[in-house]
Amino acid sequence: MTDTGIENLLQEERLFPPSDEFAAQANAGPELYTEASEDFVAYWRRQALERITWFKEPTEDLDDSNAPFFKWFADGELNISYNCLDRHLDAGGGKVAYHWIGEPGDRRTVTYQQLSDEVNRFANGLRSLGVEKGDRVAIYMGMVPELAVAMLACARIGAPHSVIFGGFSAQSIIDRVQDAEAKLLITADGAWRRGTVVPLKESCDEAMLSTPSIDHCIVYERTKQGVSMTQGRDIWWHDLVADQSTECEPEVMGAEDLLYILYTSGTTAKPKGIMHTTGGYITSAASTHSLVFDVKPESDVYWCAADIGWVTGHTYIVYGPLANHTTSVMYEGTPDYPEKDRLWSIIEEYGVTILYTAPTAIRAFMKWGAEYPERRDLSSLRLLGSVGEPINPEAWMWYHENIGSSNCPIVDTWWQTETGSIMISPLPGVTTTKPGSATKAMPGVSAEIVDQEGNRVSPGGGGFLTITKPWPAMLRSIYGDDERYVSTYWSQYPGRYFAGDGAKIDDDGYLWILGRVDDVMNVSGHRISTMEVESALVSHPAVAESAVVGATDSLTGQAIVAFVTLRGGFEESDGLNDELRKHVAVQIGPIAKPKSIIFTPDLPKTRSGKIMRRLLRDISENRDLGDITTLANADIVANIASQSEAQRKDA
Ligand code: PRX
Repeated sequence: MTDTGIENLLQEERLFPPSDEFAAQANAGPELYTEASEDFVAYWRRQALERITWFKEPTEDLDDSNAPFFKWFADGELNISYNCLDRHLDAGGGKVAYHWIGEPGDRRTVTYQQLSDEVNRFANGLRSLGVEKGDRVAIYMGMVPELAVAMLACARIGAPHSVIFGGFSAQSIIDRVQDAEAKLLITADGAWRRGTVVPLKESCDEAMLSTPSIDHCIVYERTKQGVSMTQGRDIWWHDLVADQSTECEPEVMGAEDLLYILYTSGTTAKPKGIMHTTGGYITSAASTHSLVFDVKPESDVYWCAADIGWVTGHTYIVYGPLANHTTSVMYEGTPDYPEKDRLWSIIEEYGVTILYTAPTAIRAFMKWGAEYPERRDLSSLRLLGSVGEPINPEAWMWYHENIGSSNCPIVDTWWQTETGSIMISPLPGVTTTKPGSATKAMPGVSAEIVDQEGNRVSPGGGGFLTITKPWPAMLRSIYGDDERYVSTYWSQYPGRYFAGDGAKIDDDGYLWILGRVDDVMNVSGHRISTMEVESALVSHPAVAESAVVGATDSLTGQAIVAFVTLRGGFEESDGLNDELRKHVAVQIGPIAKPKSIIFTPDLPKTRSGKIMRRLLRDISENRDLGDITTLANADIVANIASQSEAQRKDA
C-alpha cells in the first residue's frame, strides 16, 4: 500500500463559469470568502446576528476550551420555531410555506399563518400530555406537513425530537427510541408509497412492545385504513388538538440546548445518535440555505426533494427554508409514481425555480431516459442542487442539459448528518463549477485533505477529507456516548474532524469527494477510489449507473469488479462487457480496468439511496450476506448473487 493517500486518476477539463446575469443578482459574493478567511468566528457571528432573531443576543462566540466539545454563542437565547414562524407573521403570514402534493394526487397549501396555528395547537397538545423541556420525542411519519408541524412544536416547547425515517422497520424504531429514552411517539396510521399504504402505526405497535419509556403515541390520520388504538396510550392527532389554543408561549432556549437527535446507521455497528443544538445550527441552516440556493423569499418556489427523515430534510426542507421565509414544495411519494415524470409534472405545475435532489435519483432519471423531462415545461428552473453521494461527471452533465436546459448553475453540496449544514459547495454566481467537483469549502469552513500520516496533500493528490476548524452547526456529541464521539471523529488526526471520506484536490484547489474511505480499493498497491472507476463507466453512453468494489485477488491484492446498470435501449452482451472494460482503461488507465463486469437491472441501495458496496463485496467474495432486510430493494440481491456465482464458475 502506498502511504500517499488515494490515487488521482480521473481528469475533468470542463468548466462552467457563472453567467453575468446570475452573478448580478446572486445572494453570495466573493467578498464572503475574504471576510471569513480573515476571521471565521467573526464571520459566523455576523451570520448569527443578521439572520437570527434572538431573545437575548449572545455575547460569546466560539468556546473551544473543552475541545472537541465546542460551543457556539452559548449565552444567547432564542427559540427556533419563533424564528421559523412568529417573526414572519406580521408582514408575511399569508405567504405559502408549503405547497404539498400527496402521492394519490391530493393537494394542500399551507401558509405561514396556518403552519404557525397548527404548530401552536400541537405544541399545546404536547404540553397537555406532560411533555416538558428536555423530554425526547420520537417521530415516525411519512412526508406530510404534520411531520414539519410535529418537529416545530417540539422545538417550540424545547423537547428534542428524534425523527425516524418512515421506511424503517419496527426494530429501527426500538433501537432509536430505547437509545434516546423517548417519552412520546408521533406517527400516522399510514403513508402512501407507490399506490400502497405503508402501515406506520402497525410498526409502532410492534415497536412499543419493547419501548417502556413511551407514555403516549399520537396518531395522525392520513390513509384511513383501520388501525388499533390502545386506550390510555394512543391518541388521535385531531382529538389532541381539537380544543387547543393557537397561542403557545415559546420556550426560551439556550443556544446550546439540544434541538434534535438524528440517528445515522453505520453499516454494522449500533446507530449513532447525532446531537444538534439550537443557536449554531439555525445560524448555519439559514445562512447556507440562502447562500447556496440563492433563495429569494419573494419570488422563488424551492423544492428539496429529499425525505424529512434524513438530515437533508431537517435542514433544507424544514429549518433553513422556514427561517428564511421561503415557499417550498413538499411531495409525499416517489418520483416514478404513477409515472416516471412525476417530479417534472410538479415542477411544471408549481413553477419550481430551485430543485435539490440526489445523484441516485439523477442516475435513475438517466436510466429512464430524457423523454420524461422532455414532456414537461421545466423553464421555471434557475438553479439545481445535488447531495448525498459523489455525482459522476456524466450524471452532472445529464442533469445540467436535460433538467437545467444548460443554463442553471449546479451546486454539488458535500455535507453529512454530523455537519448539520452544507460544508463544501459552489456559491452560485461566484464559483466556476467543474462537473463532479463539490469545488471549495464554504466561507467559514476549513477543509483539508491529508495523507495517512495526517500531512496535508498538495494539489494533484488524493487522501482523506478533514475539517480543521469548528463550525456552528457541527454535531455536539453522540447521544449518551461522548467517548464514541471523540474516537469516531476526532482521533484519527489530532485537532481535526475526520469525515470518513476520501477526496482529492486538483491544481486549482478544487475538492473532489471520492466517497467513504471504506470503499477505497487497493489494486497492486494503488489506492483507487471506487467512485472514479464508476464515473468512467457512467461516461460510456450505454451506462446509467455502476457500483465498483475491490474483491480479494491472490495476484493483485484486490481486483476490480464492476456492477453495471444499462440505460434504456441498451442490451447486455459479451461485446459490451469487453468494450466497457476497455473504456475504463482508456478513460483513467489500465490499472483501473475492471477484472469483471456484471450487468444488473438495479443496484442494492440503502433506504437513503446510497449504494451498498459492502454487500456487493460480500457477493463478489462469496460471503454470507447476513440481514439485508433494511435495503430499499433487497430482491435485487439474489439476482446479482446468482450472476456473480455463474461468473466465478466460468472463470
Ligand atoms: O460520503 C459522503 C456522502 O454522504 C455522506 C454523508 O451521508 P449522510 O450523513 O447520510 O448525509 C447525506 C446528506 C447530507 C458523506 O460522508 N456525500 C454527501 N454529499 C456528498 C457526498 N459525497 C460526495 N459528494 C457530495 N456532494
